[in-house]
Formats: sequence, C-alpha cells, structure tokens
Amino acid sequence: MAKEMCRCELAAFRLFTMSAAVLLFLGLGLEAAGGRRNRCYFNRTEEYCVCYNLSEETIGSIIQCLAATVVEFEGGDVEKYIGFPIGDLDSSAIDTLGSLVIQKIIIGNVLLPEILLARVLRFFSYTHVQELAFESCIFQGTGDWSDMDGQDLPIRSLSFHNVTSAPLTGHEQAFSSLSTWLETLEELAVTGSRVTSLPCAIGKVFRALRSLNLAQNSLSDGSLAPAFCQGAFPQLQELSLHHNNLSSYHGVCEGLELLPELRHLDLSHNELMADSSSSCQWPAALRHFNLSNTALDTVPTPLPAHLEVLDMSHNHLHAVDVSLSSLRKLFLNQNLLQAVPSLRNYPMLDTLHLDNNSIWELPGDEVKLLGRLQDVTVADNPFSCSCSGAGELQTLAATGHLGQGWPEGYRCHSPAEYQGWLVAQVPVSVLHCDLAAVVVPLCVVLALLSVAGAVFVLRARPCRRS
Ligand SMILES: *[C@@H]1O[C@H](CO)[C@@H](O)[C@H](O)[C@H]1NC(C)=O
Ligand SMILES: *[C@@H]1O[C@H](CO)[C@@H](O)[C@H](O)[C@H]1NC(C)=O
Ligand SMILES: *[C@@H]1O[C@H](CO)[C@@H](O)[C@H](O)[C@H]1NC(C)=O
Ligand SMILES: *[C@@H]1O[C@H](CO)[C@@H](O)[C@H](O)[C@H]1NC(C)=O
Ligand SMILES: *[C@@H]1O[C@H](CO)[C@@H](O)[C@H](O)[C@H]1NC(C)=O
Repeated sequence: MAKEMCRCELAAFRLFTMSAAVLLFLGLGLEAAGGRRNRCYFNRTEEYCVCYNLSEETIGSIIQCLAATVVEFEGGDVEKYIGFPIGDLDSSAIDTLGSLVIQKIIIGNVLLPEILLARVLRFFSYTHVQELAFESCIFQGTGDWSDMDGQDLPIRSLSFHNVTSAPLTGHEQAFSSLSTWLETLEELAVTGSRVTSLPCAIGKVFRALRSLNLAQNSLSDGSLAPAFCQGAFPQLQELSLHHNNLSSYHGVCEGLELLPELRHLDLSHNELMADSSSSCQWPAALRHFNLSNTALDTVPTPLPAHLEVLDMSHNHLHAVDVSLSSLRKLFLNQNLLQAVPSLRNYPMLDTLHLDNNSIWELPGDEVKLLGRLQDVTVADNPFSCSCSGAGELQTLAATGHLGQGWPEGYRCHSPAEYQGWLVAQVPVSVLHCDLAAVVVPLCVVLALLSVAGAVFVLRARPCRRS
C-alpha cells in the first residue's frame, strides 16, 4: 500500500517536474502578477490551453495543458531566468516531451532574451510542435545559437506579429546556426513589425519556404529586388505584401520577377500607380492576384496571363476591358463601373462580384450569360427600374445564382415613381411593360377582323342581291 502511494506520488512528482520542464524549455516566466489571472485554462472542445502570467504557486495548472493541441502563453517576465541552469534532459523527460500532443505554441506579450531562446529552442526537437508563433514580443540582445548547429526541428510554420528585435543584419550567426532547420521551414510570417528590408542572403536560407506573409510592414518598391534576389525563396508559392509602402505596379513586378513558383500574390492596401510602361513579366505560375484597395483608376497592364482569381475590388475603376481566358473569379465590387464587363472576355468565369458600382442596367444579352455563372452579385447599384431593367434583374434572380444581397440590396434609383423600391417588387407583366407587345398583335387582330368583316359584307351583298 505504502509502495503504491509512493509510486503514485513519484508519478505525480514526475508529471509536475515535466510540466515545469515544458514551461522552462519554452523559456517562459513564472512571475506572479498580483491581482491578474495567473493560471492556465483548458478548453476541452477546442483542445486549446491558455496560460496567463504563470506563477510558481499555480504551476500545477499547466498539467491540464498537456492534453491540448494548442497552448498559448500570455505575459510573464522571463528575464530573471537568464542565469538559470538549463542542462540536458534525461531520457524520461525526453519520452514525456515525445508523448505530448501539442502542435502549436503561441507566445504573447513577453520580453524574451535571445540568450534564453537560443538555449531552449533545441528541446523542441523532442516534441511534435509544428507551429510556433510570437505575438507582441520583444526579443532582447543576441543569443549564442551554436547549440543549434546541424539541428533540425519539427516546426514547419513560424510566425511573428508585432515583434521588436535587433536588426536582422546583426543576426548572420543565428541564421547560419539555424540553417539546418530553417531550410525545412514551409511557412513564415513576419507581420506588423516595421520591416523595411530583407537581406538577399536570408531568402537563400529558406529553400523550402512555400508561404511568406510580410503584411503590415514598411516595405517599399526598392526593397523587393534585394529581398527576392536570384536564388532567394526558390519554392515560394504564396506571398502577401498586403498593407505595405509599395507605390509602383511596375516596380513591384520588377522586384518579384525572380520567383518562378509564385502562384498567389496579395498586394492589397497599397497605393499603386500604374503609369509608366514596362516590359516586366509577372511570374508565369501566378494564378491568384489581389489588387483590392490599391487606388487604381485603370486596369494595370500587363496582368499575369494565366490568372484564375483576380480581386480589383475597392478601387476607382471606370471600365474593365481586358481578356483573361483562364479567369474563374473576378471581384470588382466597390468601383465606379457603369456597365457590366463583357463576359465574352472570360470564357471560364464562374464568379463575378459587381456590388457598389454605378451600374444602372443589365443588357439583355449579358443577362443570359450572367445567369450561367455560379455566383453573381450586383447589389447596391443605382438601378433603373424601367420595365426591362427590373425585368432583367428579376430574370437573373430567378436563375438562383444571384448571390448574397437579393432582394434587400437591390433598389431602384429611377424612375421617380419607383425610387427606393426593391427591384423585386416592381410589377413586371407583359401588359404593364411592353405596350408594343400587346398593341401590335391587337392591331393585327383588329385589322384582320375588319378585313374579314369587309369581305363578309362584300360577299353578303351579292348574295342578297341574288
Ligand atoms: C470552449 O470553446 C467553445 C468554442 O469557442 C465555447 O463555446 C465554450 O464555451 C468554451 N468552453 C469553455 C469551458 O470555456
Ligand atoms: C505591440 O506590442 C507591444 C509590445 O511590444 C504592445 O505594447 C502593443 O500593445 C502591441 N500592439 C498591438 C496593436 O497589439
Ligand atoms: C515609403 O516609401 C517612400 C519612398 O518610396 C519613403 O519616402 C517613405 O519614407 C516610406 N514610408 C515609410 C513609412 O516607410
Ligand atoms: C484580397 O484582399 C482583401 C483585403 O486585403 C481581402 O478582404 C480579400 O478577401 C482578398 N481577396 C481574395 C480573392 O482573396
Ligand atoms: C457598399 O458600400 C456601402 C458604403 O460604403 C457599404 O456600407 C456596403 O456594405 C457596401 N455593400 C457591399 C455589398 O459591399
């Protein structure tokens, strides 16, 4: 009995020290912040565990995180653990780390000395953690990363949001020690962190990177060519430059010319000018192009030839007159278009969004083509509800392919008698709409009747006479 107790206690103690080790190798602080939440909360349905400002007294609550797939650590002061001895783990600790199901770790609002990070990073090699994210962290000083020489980690996705660190140019040693791992990284995000440039050498380390998100930084046109130099990011398929300091459409094209595998490019929320002409060609693999919110007043040329998805919403376009034979989805909502672009230019199209433009009618022949798309939206346009106008829209709605917004987003702008009406409520009947359609046959019938009558009368007369 006593032996059982003892074994139990030993197990509990081991679990406890394990959890302490888990914490420690994450380089997280155990500072009790008076009055604030300082424990872990586990949401079983989401398999998500969040720990706030852990303190030594509440460290026991981290045990429940061992069943989570995502663990988030919020806040804490880890500076005081710089001098803490971090030795090698014994085999049972390694087994425990190997049995954890944690796949993603988020570290938020922490002041992180790089010395500590460099010392604990290699322990990730015993885990199955695939994603590591730092949010609102400050990286301090420079660490000695030589322990990571030749070391691979299971982490394939790394992200930094709103972080501050010493300039990247001071980190050559870190990049060379970490290269065995970084060469295998597939996703990298460095967002909202005032990045102005990336040295050419960094891109060459990320040989397997497929996705790079640099949104909400201060990259300018001139910083692209060095960052995406020959041999940098050779496998890159997805790049987001959303919300940066880019200003020339052709400048961006020239800066990204050397990314042979690029399929998705997001340039949204930059103020792009498309004035000067250029012979620049976009990467031939480009399929998804986001030019939403880029202050464009004309469609820039050249566009990538094989695009499948093009988002030019939220611009100042008056007309769209380009042909893209592979295009499947075209987003033109929130522009100044007065007419529906000709669908003959996009034989493969299945989605077209035209909300919030200045379109007042849909031409009858286009309506037939629009009706064949899977998803069309034309809400919030100033429709003319003449009989044919309202009729064409009602016909389109009847196909069932009119997406979100019907009927409440479709209102008449004219004529005066229907202003403000829902297009769906405008009475559209043959009698009401097309007077000619009713009057012409009526005249013909009347004419025929009168001819027949005349013949009858003429015939009748001789009869009576006889
Ligand atoms: C867990 O998360 C789900 C979904 O977000 C939420 O509905 C539920 O209330 C959470 N449970 C606890 C115990 O917080
Ligand atoms: C960014 O991080 C800093 C700490 O480095 C924090 O004070 C600030 O609130 C964060 N900003 C946002 C928008 O999260
Ligand atoms: C944006 O780029 C221009 C040059 O293209 C530069 O003068 C300006 O300082 C940059 N702004 C920021 C916030 O980096
Ligand atoms: C383009 O970017 C905008 C904003 O940045 C986003 O809302 C939109 O969904 C993106 N479009 C596509 C087709 O992904
Ligand atoms: C149209 O623009 C208005 C005002 O900017 C906005 O409130 C509305 O949501 C937009 N409608 C659509 C369908 O985008």
